[in-house]
Amino acid sequence: MNIAIDGPAGAGKSTVAGKVASQLEYVYIDTGSMYRALAWAVYHHQLPIDDEATVSELLQNNEIRLVRKAGQQHVYWNDTDVTSFIRSNEVSQYASIVASYGSVREQMLVLQRNLAKQGNVVMDGRDIGTHVLPDAEVKIFLTASIRERAERRWKELLAKGSQVQLADLEKEIEERDYRDMNRDVAPLRQADDAVLVDTTGISIDQVVDRILQICERMGEST
Ligand code: DC
Repeated sequence: MNIAIDGPAGAGKSTVAGKVASQLEYVYIDTGSMYRALAWAVYHHQLPIDDEATVSELLQNNEIRLVRKAGQQHVYWNDTDVTSFIRSNEVSQYASIVASYGSVREQMLVLQRNLAKQGNVVMDGRDIGTHVLPDAEVKIFLTASIRERAERRWKELLAKGSQVQLADLEKEIEERDYRDMNRDVAPLRQADDAVLVDTTGISIDQVVDRILQICERMGEST
């Protein structure tokens, strides 16, 4: 059984998907980290982010690998573990730009479908239920209010000693949502057969339980 979890930035997808995967002993694949690794490389090498051909070629000529280490997913750009560099605000903004390029998405689609071939994966992203794994047995669309998503990110950054303003984060999340939902290729949207789970005001564990129940129901009906 494959499980697709989509939704906007900050809805808690990675935490929830990681927990669901470990409960079911499935493989967790964070597709956002693949776009982020590419965005990091563009940023790191100071390449022109607005040039689709350059960005697409960069992906073609390099390798992104997801490696599990001590229970955590690490993302490699060739031989560099970039996991700790890909969550900065700059890389986040770049990631949503590289993700708007059709030629980048086509390549990512192939990489991601290959990763899912093994079966029993929990894959999270924006277009998993609609494009990457349209036949996934379970599809979840995870969301939360913009305010709550910004607050979650704000607390995360404060804990890391960062001095960001909540209002700025809200604005950034709004901009990313807009870009993700309005791009021409594979925009973020709920698949017709996905179950909507709104996480506003609910704990991570409650969300995980809800999804596990859905998986159990699906498992029984297949
Ligand atoms: O989930 P995330 O915030 O780590 O994703 C980073 C960016 O990549 C975000 O702007 C959306 C984009 N993305 C996408 O377009 N398709 C995916 N399957 C995963 C992420």
